[in-house]
Amino acid sequence: MAAAAPGAKLPSTRSLVADYQASPVTVQKALQTLTAEGLIESRPGVGTFIRAARTAKPSDYGWQTAALKSPLAALPPASSTMRDVPLDAISFHSGYPARELLPERLVRAALTRAARGDAALSRPPAAGLPELQSWFAHELAASTPAGTAPPNPSDVVVLPGSQSGLSSIFSALVGRGQPLLLESPTYWGAILAAAQAGVRVVPVPVGPDGPDPAVLTRAFEESGARVFYAQPNYANPTGAQWSAGRRDQVLDVVRAQGAFLVEDDWAHDFGITSNPVPVASRDDSGHVVYLRSLTKSVSTSIRVAAVIARGPARERILADRAAESMYVSGLLQAAALDVVTQPGWQTHLRSLRHQLESRRDLLVTSLRAHAPQAHIEQVPKGGLHVWVRLPDGTDLERLVRDCEAAGVIIAGGNEWFPAEPAGPFIRLNYSGMNPGAFPEGARIIGEMLERNLG
Ligand SMILES: Cc1ncc(COP(=O)(O)O)c(C=O)c1O
Repeated sequence: MAAAAPGAKLPSTRSLVADYQASPVTVQKALQTLTAEGLIESRPGVGTFIRAARTAKPSDYGWQTAALKSPLAALPPASSTMRDVPLDAISFHSGYPARELLPERLVRAALTRAARGDAALSRPPAAGLPELQSWFAHELAASTPAGTAPPNPSDVVVLPGSQSGLSSIFSALVGRGQPLLLESPTYWGAILAAAQAGVRVVPVPVGPDGPDPAVLTRAFEESGARVFYAQPNYANPTGAQWSAGRRDQVLDVVRAQGAFLVEDDWAHDFGITSNPVPVASRDDSGHVVYLRSLTKSVSTSIRVAAVIARGPARERILADRAAESMYVSGLLQAAALDVVTQPGWQTHLRSLRHQLESRRDLLVTSLRAHAPQAHIEQVPKGGLHVWVRLPDGTDLERLVRDCEAAGVIIAGGNEWFPAEPAGPFIRLNYSGMNPGAFPEGARIIGEMLERNLG
C-alpha cells in the first residue's frame, strides 16, 4: 500500500479477504482505519483509491504574532493532572476516578435507553431537562433543615460539567478586574476559570477546619470582594471538611458582607467516614451559589452538572450559559437522570464508599510505612485525594521527575496555590487504577524523597 501510486485502485473487499485470508470484518476495519488516516478514499459505485500524498511544506504563522499581539493575561497551562500516562505506570496524579469505580452497567443501560428515547433528537430547554432540574433540587432539599425554604427546580441550571459553571459564575457574579476570594490551596481549575474570567484573585488561607472566619472577614473588607469560592466538603486538594459550627460561621460572615459563597460540592458522592452537608442547605436568601457535578461519580463521559442559585444571580448565570453554549446535550442529561434514579445507584454509592475507604487506608498506611518523611496533614473523611506536606527544602520538580522516571506519577502541589505555595506539597489520588500497587508506589516516593533531601 505504502508503495502504491496515488490514484491507484484498491482490489475489491472480496479479493482482499481472499488474498490476506482475513475475515470481511477485519478487512472492513482496516479500510476504515486507512480512510480515517487519509490514506485512501472510497468513491461510491466506483471503488477505493489511494489518495494523492500532499507534500507538507513548512507553514509560516509569523503573521499571527502581529495580529494577536501579547495576551492581556496569559492563561495558565492545562494542569499536569490531565495528562495521559503509560498504562503500566503507578499513577496518583489524576483527579478522576478509575473506570472500575464507575457504575458501568447502569451507565451503558442508561445510554442505550436515552438513544432510543426522545432525548436523542430533541432540544432541551436552556436551563436543563425539567426532571433533571427537579432531581438536583431534591438532592439539596434532602439536607435542608425545617424552617429553611428548600430550592425550587426552577433555581437549577444544568451545566456541561462544573468546570464551565465556574467560568460562568465568575464572569456573571464577579466580572473582569473585580476581586474574587479563593481558598488557598484550592482546585487548580477554579484558578484557571478565574484567570479566564479576568477576575483579580485574593487568596484566603485555609487549614484542616476550613477558613478562619476572622481572616475571611478581613479579606472581604480589605479587598472589597463580594464572592468567595470554597469547597466545604472534602476540599480538593486538602480533603478538609468544615464542621457544622464552621459552616454557620462562614455563612454568617458572607451574609454580613452582603456577599456570595460559591460552594463547589464536587465530592458529594464521595463521603467515606462522614456525610457531606452542603452549606447551601442552610441558605434560602440567595447567598450561596451551589455547584454539584455528576461527572466523576456517574461517568467521565457523561458531563453533566448543575448550579443552584436564587434570584437575579441565577438569571445572570443562565444568561452567561446561554451565550456560551445555549443548552446541554439532552441525550447526556437523560442518561445522567436515568442512572441516578435507578435503585442500583444507591447500591453503587454504598459499595463505592467501602472501596474508597479501603483504597484511602491502603495509601495512608503505605505512605506511613514507606515514606515516613511525607507528612499527611489529615486523613480525609471523603473525596479522592490525600494531601501530603513534604519536608522544607524538597526540590518538588525534581521529585516529580524522579518518581516519573521510576514509573510513579505524582502531582506536585504548586498548581493548587493561587499565589506562591505555602510549602512543598504533593496530592495523591487513591481512586486511580491498580490499588494493589500503592505500597510499591509509596516505597518509590519514599526512596526518591530520601535521595532528594540527601
Ligand atoms: C473541586 C472541583 N471542582 C470542579 C471540578 C470539575 O468537575 P467537572 O468534571 O464537573 O467539570 C473538579 C474536577 O476535578 C474539581 O476537583
